[in-house]
Amino acid sequence: MDGRASTATDVKTKVGPVILLGAPGAGKGTQAKLIMQRYGIPQISTGDILRRNRAEKTALGKEAESYMDAGKLVPDDLIIRMMEVELAHAENAIVDGFPRTIPQAEAFDALLARKGLVPLAVVFDVDYSVLTERITGPWSNPRTGRVYHTKFNPPRVAGIDDEDGGPLVQRPDDSAEVVTKRLAEYDEKTAPLIAYYERQCETVHVNALGEIAAVTHAIIAKLPDTGVVTKP
Ligand code: AP5
Repeated sequence: MDGRASTATDVKTKVGPVILLGAPGAGKGTQAKLIMQRYGIPQISTGDILRRNRAEKTALGKEAESYMDAGKLVPDDLIIRMMEVELAHAENAIVDGFPRTIPQAEAFDALLARKGLVPLAVVFDVDYSVLTERITGPWSNPRTGRVYHTKFNPPRVAGIDDEDGGPLVQRPDDSAEVVTKRLAEYDEKTAPLIAYYERQCETVHVNALGEIAAVTHAIIAKLPDTGVVTKP
């Protein structure tokens, strides 16, 4: 089925979730949170859900752990089962990090088709050379939440918080070595989704290399009046 929304009326009545597609570090999570705050629509992030499950030591979290730490995608069956629950009542959501493979996209399509919805895809265009710096830069104080960046806002002593003198931590999969693997997974398994969605539904591209506020503006400006968000 060609789910492409063909008229403005169709777009208003049929467009459901907004899918953010882009490489690790492209800024999907950052933009999803900003759009959520601005419009009050939910963000559903598979990465955040998985990290929460890891922190709570659930069966899903334990199963996902080794894949995430190795920079690999978590197996499709686990993700699809998890997302069927998460998406059951979230028709108009900003979805960040899902789908990431063709089987995930097909499962998502089937779920949306049952609700009579098509997604809108936003593709984050980036130059890979900036991604490693963006991802590996942040270190945080787990006690206070204070965040540093090794290049833009470094602590006085590497790995030590300026204020309480305690150790700073990095997301386990944000080391340079694991980031290289995450980018390779993206190229092989997720990048093909851009052509997939270009065939399936309305797909817009944004230049994700600019300042954070400029990227938000570009996304908002390109979103049609879907009922999910309205042009400023
Ligand atoms: P996930 O958490 O989804 O990570 P990711 O997409 O690989 O990477 P990021 O979260 O780092 O990227 P982002 O695009 O959200 O960028 P962000 O806004 O954070 O997934 C983690 C793991 O979970 C996966 O590797 C996999 O194992 C598993 N997983 C998740 N979903 C899965 C699925 N569907 N199937 C299978 N496995 C799955 O920004 C990054 C940094 O850049 C931040 O410091 C930010 O401040 C900065 N930044 C953002 N925008 C800008 C800007 N415009 N200019 C300068 N800096 C910027």
